[in-house]
Amino acid sequence: MIVAVDGPTASGKGTIAKAIAAHFGLPHLDSGLLYRAVARQVQLDGGDPDNPADAEKAAGFPEELLQDPILRSEAVGQLASHVSVHPRVRALLRRRQQDFAHQPGGAVIDGRDIGTVIAPDADVKIFVVASGQARAQRRYLEMRERGEDVTQEQIEDDLRRRDERDSGRAESPLLAADDAVTLDTSKLGREQAIAEAIRIIEAKR
Ligand code: DC
Repeated sequence: MIVAVDGPTASGKGTIAKAIAAHFGLPHLDSGLLYRAVARQVQLDGGDPDNPADAEKAAGFPEELLQDPILRSEAVGQLASHVSVHPRVRALLRRRQQDFAHQPGGAVIDGRDIGTVIAPDADVKIFVVASGQARAQRRYLEMRERGEDVTQEQIEDDLRRRDERDSGRAESPLLAADDAVTLDTSKLGREQAIAEAIRIIEAKR
């Protein structure tokens, strides 16, 4: 069984994808991490994330970079949204994601274009959404917990910019597949959102 979980930043898709993978005993790939690794590699190379040649070169990042906790930072997330605009970068990361999705037994992948481009044949597609306010509040609490010094307004601003770039790009924009089930987590706690996703999968298979 292939499960595609797409949605905007801080919608809860990563938490949901990880939990359903554990529940159904499937391997899980966080595709955003690949774009974050490209972004971090551009930074290490002293390159420009908006320059397609710099970003393309960085797509050959070493495997161990995926383990670096700095990839999870908000700053690298913003840069990832820049490098992921370039069609060549997306093409270079596509095969790896498609192979992961189509391994024997199936997989859970979360991202922006999994149900539309990477695995249009996925058995279940969940499109996770949440209100801007709910997403900003969650991200704010997460960052405060990590000791990062930010205001809720700054986060709302960052999320807006990231949404515009991720949804507005020409190549593989953030988009719900026609056959995706939308899961709105605005008013749901973590466990409720996970239970709802499990219910959607059970109903589909
Ligand atoms: O899900 P995330 O916040 O870790 O993703 C970081 C950035 O990577 C996001 O702003 C856009 C990009 N991305 C993408 O273009 N396609 C994906 N499948 C996953 C992430």
